[in-house]
Amino acid sequence: MATGHGWVPSPRRRGLLSRGALRPPLGGAGVAAGIAVEAAGRAGAALFRKGPDSLKQYVRHQKHCQKSSSICFASLDRMPSEILLKIFSYLDAVTLLCIGCVNKRLYHLANDNLIWIRIYSTAFSPKRSNWRVNSVEKTAVSLSLLSVEDKQAGYWKKEYIAKQIASVKATLTQILKPVNPYTGLPVKIKEALRVSGLGWAIILKDRSEKEYIMEHVDLSINDASVTVVWYSKNWPHLATLSTIDLCGVTPVFMDHHKVPTKNGPRWHSLIAQYSLSSLTESTLIGFDGLIRIFCLNPGLLVGLWKREEELAFVMANLHFHQLMERSTLGSATIPYELPPHCPFVDDDWESGLHGYQLHVDMHSGGISYLCGTFHNLFSKKGYIENGYMKLIVISSKNNTQHLPLIGKIGLSWRTDIFEGCIKSCYVMDLTLLDESRKPFWCFSSPVCMHSSPRPSEGPNFLGQEYYVDYLDSVGKVHMELVWIEETEEYFIIDLVLYLSVTKVNHWFGTNY
Ligand SMILES: *[C@@H]1O[C@H](CO)[C@@H](O)[C@H](O)[C@H]1NC(C)=O
Repeated sequence: MATGHGWVPSPRRRGLLSRGALRPPLGGAGVAAGIAVEAAGRAGAALFRKGPDSLKQYVRHQKHCQKSSSICFASLDRMPSEILLKIFSYLDAVTLLCIGCVNKRLYHLANDNLIWIRIYSTAFSPKRSNWRVNSVEKTAVSLSLLSVEDKQAGYWKKEYIAKQIASVKATLTQILKPVNPYTGLPVKIKEALRVSGLGWAIILKDRSEKEYIMEHVDLSINDASVTVVWYSKNWPHLATLSTIDLCGVTPVFMDHHKVPTKNGPRWHSLIAQYSLSSLTESTLIGFDGLIRIFCLNPGLLVGLWKREEELAFVMANLHFHQLMERSTLGSATIPYELPPHCPFVDDDWESGLHGYQLHVDMHSGGISYLCGTFHNLFSKKGYIENGYMKLIVISSKNNTQHLPLIGKIGLSWRTDIFEGCIKSCYVMDLTLLDESRKPFWCFSSPVCMHSSPRPSEGPNFLGQEYYVDYLDSVGKVHMELVWIEETEEYFIIDLVLYLSVTKVNHWFGTNY
């Protein structure tokens, strides 16, 4: 069972689920049967008063069931349809959908239009959701009530689901509208998460294609990213695993009047897939006494116990940019694809890039070491170097630009038993907006400082020097720091972004 803390072996998943369709809840059938049996008590009482013939059959089954087995699931399945329909009419939408996953017969019964139109009109009755519904719409509802029997089976179920999803989407669009002027990113991410019920899961796949789903254990919201963490005492053995899928998980629909249940049907949207064979020296970025950390692109941090070489924790760093889309609009097997970019026509492109704005947040464990915005960044056309355009953010030659990192730098991690901090590593969130304030480059990734040899030429600083490098398909970040012994602070003395010319040309439809 999904507990949120352990992994869930789910050998049945493949056949049922990997087609990118709705994923039925884990243990859905069992739970559905349980709920239905409970409801059968209530419905049964009502039926006894009426006493239809089929009831005798039902009672016979019940007795048989009590004798032969303690699980009454089989008897539920063999109940006459009219009794099941009566029982189903007491259930809510989520439970009905769970029951529909049990088998073909229950699926057809749980599709019943009369049951669903009641759920539909209760949820979306003009009184409850919107008292200003005009009379035309009201008439439409009552007309369609009349013709309910004419509709195809499942029609009202589909209508209900579609309307639920549309209403959550409309609410989300409103919530995501206000943007932070410094980051160009939505301000109310927390509220969006609450309204959508969005969470994240990792799916570990072993070599025999068996899957282990883990729901996130910790989630923290930063200035421009969400940090999601998984840990467990019962990870499957690393040697047997091949990949990690990172997915957004949303309840198929949220009932605002109820607490979302873990067992409802949920939608999985694949965000990224990582190969565990890349946990090698080249992705190793740091370590402490207990663990070694590996960074897998994009933004995934994997911590392994030093001794056993087994998983300790997994941390995903998710930048706010298109986060809701990426976490909800993909399918279980195909990630959401960003809408095609329309080249932005810039009359002034001859002079290079100008008016760029950078927002950086360097943080870990909820503590920000540096959070700042840099305006009016530019890159002259002539700055192209090895296929990159250079944006100088902090120049080593200009003292007034140098900035300290505040606090004790380190990447905090934690599991059920241990916690620690990996010195000189942290998470870097970068948001680069173009001159029209559109996000040009966004990422959230763990990075580490490495000590650099003292340069023989150029400006000499007072302390040990360090550097941080980051690279992805859009560009590179190079940062240099100096450790100032007296104040026990790292000072950033150099910060340069290199933007891939290919990306720039794609963005502007230019040809640099
Ligand atoms: C140094 O940086 C400051 C702050 O960004 C800027 O105002 C100043 O013009 C720079 N000086 C030089 C010589 O570039």
